[in-house]
Amino acid sequence: MTARPGAPEDWPRYRQLLVHCPQAAQWADGYPSLCIQEHEEILAFVLYRIVAGEGEILNLAVHPESRRRHFATALLNALLLEASIWHLEVCLSNYPAIELYKSLGFKQTTQRPNYYNDGETALLMSRVLA
Ligand SMILES: CC(C)(COP(=O)(O)OP(=O)(O)OC[C@H]1O[C@@H](n2cnc3c(N)ncnc32)[C@H](O)[C@@H]1OP(=O)(O)O)[C@@H](O)C(=O)NCCC(=O)NCCS
Repeated sequence: MTARPGAPEDWPRYRQLLVHCPQAAQWADGYPSLCIQEHEEILAFVLYRIVAGEGEILNLAVHPESRRRHFATALLNALLLEASIWHLEVCLSNYPAIELYKSLGFKQTTQRPNYYNDGETALLMSRVLA
């Protein structure tokens, strides 16, 4: 499976995927993306932006039946080449995502209590290449 750039035509299928991923942010439009597609189905996507040379991961989702197959790793490995500094926020209770980001060199920078609507704490993580 290889990552390809996403396009606005993919956004409806991103939204279909998000129905199965309540841990992800429930929006998928308006930003650059990479995705992994099998036949007509989008199995994984990442949304991002790069501003002043620093990247931010805005959303990431892998279909539950396609997890632990390194799809997220493949997407992020392709994306992380685009900038030497990356930032993201992740819910403190989202152990799988935190482990994924740590495996790719992200480190915690700070926490923001009550960041999400449900009162959950956000973990801010960054990856800085020397
Ligand atoms: C988090 C998520 C994107 C991971 O996608 P994935 O394709 O399954 O991840 P990968 O297969 O690339 O995993 C890479 C590494 O991350 C870690 N990891 C991933 N899922 C894990 C889990 N459930 N438990 C522990 N570690 C996990 C492991 O170190 C794994 O390497 P390994 O399989 O060789 O041990 C996926 O679980 C998902 O879509 N979750 C719901 C949405 C979400 O939480 N998005 C992130 C919002 S910030």
